[in-house]
Amino acid sequence: MTRELFLSNSTIENISNKDSSFAASLKAMKDVYHPVKNPSGVLNLGVALNVLQEDILYNKDLEYGNACGSEELRYVASMIINKYFNPSNIVNSSQLIITNGLNSAIDKLSSVICNPGDAVLISEPYHAPFVDIVNLVAKAVVHGVPVPPCEIQSPSQVNYYESKYRELSRLGITVKMIILCNPHNPTGKVYSRAALEAILRFANKYDIYVIFDEIYALSVYRSPTENIINLIDTPNGYFNDLYTFESVLSFDNLDELIDPRLIVVVHGTSKDFCMHGFKVGWIISPFNPDIIKALTKISPFSYISALTDRIVTSILSDAEFIDYFIKTVNYNLYQNYIKTTTFLDKKGIFYIPAQAGLFIMVDIKPFLLIWKNNHLKTNESMLKSTKDLTFEDEQQLWIASIERGRIYYSPGVNFKAHEPGWIRLVFSQPWDSLKLGLERLIEFFENDSSIYLGASI
Ligand SMILES: Cc1ncc(COP(=O)(O)O)c(C=O)c1O
Repeated sequence: MTRELFLSNSTIENISNKDSSFAASLKAMKDVYHPVKNPSGVLNLGVALNVLQEDILYNKDLEYGNACGSEELRYVASMIINKYFNPSNIVNSSQLIITNGLNSAIDKLSSVICNPGDAVLISEPYHAPFVDIVNLVAKAVVHGVPVPPCEIQSPSQVNYYESKYRELSRLGITVKMIILCNPHNPTGKVYSRAALEAILRFANKYDIYVIFDEIYALSVYRSPTENIINLIDTPNGYFNDLYTFESVLSFDNLDELIDPRLIVVVHGTSKDFCMHGFKVGWIISPFNPDIIKALTKISPFSYISALTDRIVTSILSDAEFIDYFIKTVNYNLYQNYIKTTTFLDKKGIFYIPAQAGLFIMVDIKPFLLIWKNNHLKTNESMLKSTKDLTFEDEQQLWIASIERGRIYYSPGVNFKAHEPGWIRLVFSQPWDSLKLGLERLIEFFENDSSIYLGASI
């Protein structure tokens, strides 16, 4: 079957280069001398470590660790994937690389896969930092695919990918990678299997690598079996389709859809395990050993500390605690989602129903229209409808909300929302501060606007 797939030029050079010194030092570091456990091991007189004081330091976690993550951490990460992601083939620790968080994982994958100028497709709205992450080092360029939110769970979205692909091809731009965030940030939606299969077929047609960012995989707090009678027909009117999260690793028909070498998954501790500050993630590439090889080569430039490695390994190794923790996370997210949406429903504020993640997209167009009409600049005339709103108006309200309202949220313009007037609210806070925040936000929107009732929304 082997058609040729290409990683970036620098990666091809990097991994084909028979760098015997790199291989020799990797080998030596795996076989280190110990007077009792490994007396014939390699005595390390090469790495600049000062271990003279070791006896007065607590333990050896102050040494350099393994740049790809310790064997222990990679093992527990693979166990988590095997237990919770239901992979069709068991994932083993050699198919994983530990990284300093997921932003860093995407940065590294961009360098390994893309050449400068290559296009990275991401459906809008998206996690805004991706734009810089793929560009700062790899010099790849994000091209948003304008999928309307109501189609994000539907296979029909592939039409937007196709037309973006054609547009870029006409300009001579190579589309090299897709980043697909499932569950999705910022809508909190879970993709349907049909939608994922359609995107995989599309990617396969053009040899496009697909990076599945599954950072919210274990934060799915609403399921299709939930009794959602009360939620389906809210006055809200936005779609509320619920799907079971299925990791791409679990697809037993994967090789009928795509050359599996094009698939990479990233996951980590920042969201599902609430350990944001540790900055620990993992890249899983079970089908493409070249990607692991390339990542291994660049891993010495930005790896996690041995101490972090040890602590995270210890926490994640406690399977019973992790099980309990994930259940608790989802229970708490569900409670806060219900409280937040009940608050919004009571105020008659529309939102896109979510089922995963820590946030919800809220429609503030009616507030924005009123606010705008109360803050017109001298040469501006009154807006008649929310259709006249601009992202600049949204940006101005956002700045005013921080400066005068003392409240911070993410404006849609930051994550390429489909139209002005959407914000992303994070609801994973204790209810006291969340309630205060919601009240303060609405109060600011209303009071900084001194109601204008003449406009149609
Ligand atoms: C979808 C998505 N990917 C990646 C990241 C970055 O994760 P990390 O903090 O592990 O770098 C985030 C953080 O908000 C995210 O929402």
